[in-house]
Amino acid sequence: MCGIVGYVGYRPVAELLLEGLHRLEYRGYDSAGIAVQYGNTIEVRKKAGRVSELAGLLKAQPLVGKIGIGHTRWATHGATTDQNSHPHVGGNGEVVIVHNGVIENYDILRRQLQTLGYVFRSQTDTEVVAHLLAHNLEEQTRLHGSPEDLDVCLKAVEVTLNLLKGTYGLGILFRDLPDTVIAARCGSPLVIGVGKDEYFLASDASPLVGYTKEVVYLSDNEVAVLRADALRIDHRSNGSVNVSVKTLEQVASDTDLGQYEHYMLKEIYEQPTTIENALRGRLDNEEATAVIGGLNLSAKDLRRIDRIVLTACGTSWHSGLVGEYVLEEFARMPTEVEYASELRYRNPPMSDRTLVFAITQSGETADTLAAMRECKRKGHPTLAICNVVGSTIAREADGGIYLHAGPEIGVASTKAFTSQVTVLTLLALYLGRMRHMSYPAGKRIIRQLRDMPEKISKALECHDKVREVADKYHHFNNFLYLGRLYNFPVALEGALKLKEISYIHAEGYPAAEMKHGPIALVDQQTPSVFVIPRGGIYPKVVSNMEEIRARRGPVIAIACEGDTDIARIADDVIYVPDVEEYLQPLVCAIPLQLLAYHVALLRGCNVDRPRNLAKSVTVE
Ligand code: F6R
Repeated sequence: MCGIVGYVGYRPVAELLLEGLHRLEYRGYDSAGIAVQYGNTIEVRKKAGRVSELAGLLKAQPLVGKIGIGHTRWATHGATTDQNSHPHVGGNGEVVIVHNGVIENYDILRRQLQTLGYVFRSQTDTEVVAHLLAHNLEEQTRLHGSPEDLDVCLKAVEVTLNLLKGTYGLGILFRDLPDTVIAARCGSPLVIGVGKDEYFLASDASPLVGYTKEVVYLSDNEVAVLRADALRIDHRSNGSVNVSVKTLEQVASDTDLGQYEHYMLKEIYEQPTTIENALRGRLDNEEATAVIGGLNLSAKDLRRIDRIVLTACGTSWHSGLVGEYVLEEFARMPTEVEYASELRYRNPPMSDRTLVFAITQSGETADTLAAMRECKRKGHPTLAICNVVGSTIAREADGGIYLHAGPEIGVASTKAFTSQVTVLTLLALYLGRMRHMSYPAGKRIIRQLRDMPEKISKALECHDKVREVADKYHHFNNFLYLGRLYNFPVALEGALKLKEISYIHAEGYPAAEMKHGPIALVDQQTPSVFVIPRGGIYPKVVSNMEEIRARRGPVIAIACEGDTDIARIADDVIYVPDVEEYLQPLVCAIPLQLLAYHVALLRGCNVDRPRNLAKSVTVE
């Protein structure tokens, strides 16, 4: 949700920033811009639209310099116009900034600054910060010396930050302080890349890949000063910070499209491998259990736990729902799944025996982070199931489990969902074996999990059939997605995938629940996608399907291979491999991801950059 880049060093900066913005574009693509400093001059180029629009502008009006900042925007305040694009200029050009986050008290600050004579050129909350910095720089210069003095500039930053309510990751250039990029963080992620005679700044590590493997994660309330030959970090209350350099594992090819046309398709096809990565080293055949190293809780602590709360947003919340079913079934552990955006403000009774897991691909989702912090504040052990190593949630959690799925670039989450479900199943096996589960049952689950990468490869063979189904149904404007038990969250996830990338209205429901309202929607123009692999209540779901058929609703079934009966009821059947019920979400998610992908393509939608969305939702 907005991407920031910055650089100070010896390389031509405009090209570098542009490349960084391309890599961060998944965080927001309403507009893009860069500012380049050359001596005491800062020049800005910015444009509404994709980063490619900015590239065109830079071709016509190039910028030369070795210091700069850049931004790709996901609009919060103000329409997607050139004026509202970042960077924003403060005062008479003394300061130029890029910002990720939301300044909640921007309105009152804006009015105060207008009274002081500042003229606003945009409707953004960010411009308030730019003018405040300019104003405080003037004040500090009057009190303490010159705008060319780093301490004066840092004081202006400090006074400004003290006035802000909300969240920010900031990249700042001061016109009279050449050779310096200042960064500040509160609630929005920033990472600094350490090179030889150069430093990089970015919202996440992707722009750094190929340039450096050494990174420093900025924490909340830290302010960093980047100069080609030095990095200094201060905590706003505690003073100087000992810089801790970490090593990045990501490699450049992780973010290449390879043979695929879109990241979403690439990531769908990566799932046999990503599931294998989630399982690697985590299956203990001898003991018939899972090996989960990073929980930082002893077996004794874990046996004390009598309830689990899973908190997440969006797709990660859906995987949490699957987690609830499997944790209750395998570990007999009472489990609840909470929307992080609700949990952060609710006050549900939770005892000191409640274990909390934040589930998140990015590790930066603002609501999930806030819910996790709230639970930590109340003393609950709080763990993360997370993909991005070094992300804020991964760092702040007491422990957790990484997905090892590699970067997920497509805005619609695919491989993260199946990896999360895999990891939650491992967790259920682990806790189950600590409690009630027998040795043979543990063995059986291990065997079944081991087979999953191959089963997912097999599930991908439905691709041609899905293409055909997409072709037949892509012009419909309403869909229902229905499933029961383990496949109810899959129905929710299928509906979310369709609506977010093809802009078709889709609702996910427990199949039997639809007679309590949604069935009123059913007509010849409303297809229902049934997730109906074999299982204990298969005949019940068939009855639900008949109820739709009786009302002349078209039916698409996701069914187990070999189930020829279903073809007599459904209009179209997409087959997936037959697996145990608790593993069905993994195989059934595949055709639903592909269906959303093809419908979106056929409707001319931008699959990897759906409108109004951003990959990592770092605002509330
Ligand atoms: C949907 C999607 C979102 C995310 C949600 C949480 O395809 O990607 O619903 O799942 O924004 O994001 P993370 O998992 O990064 O916390």
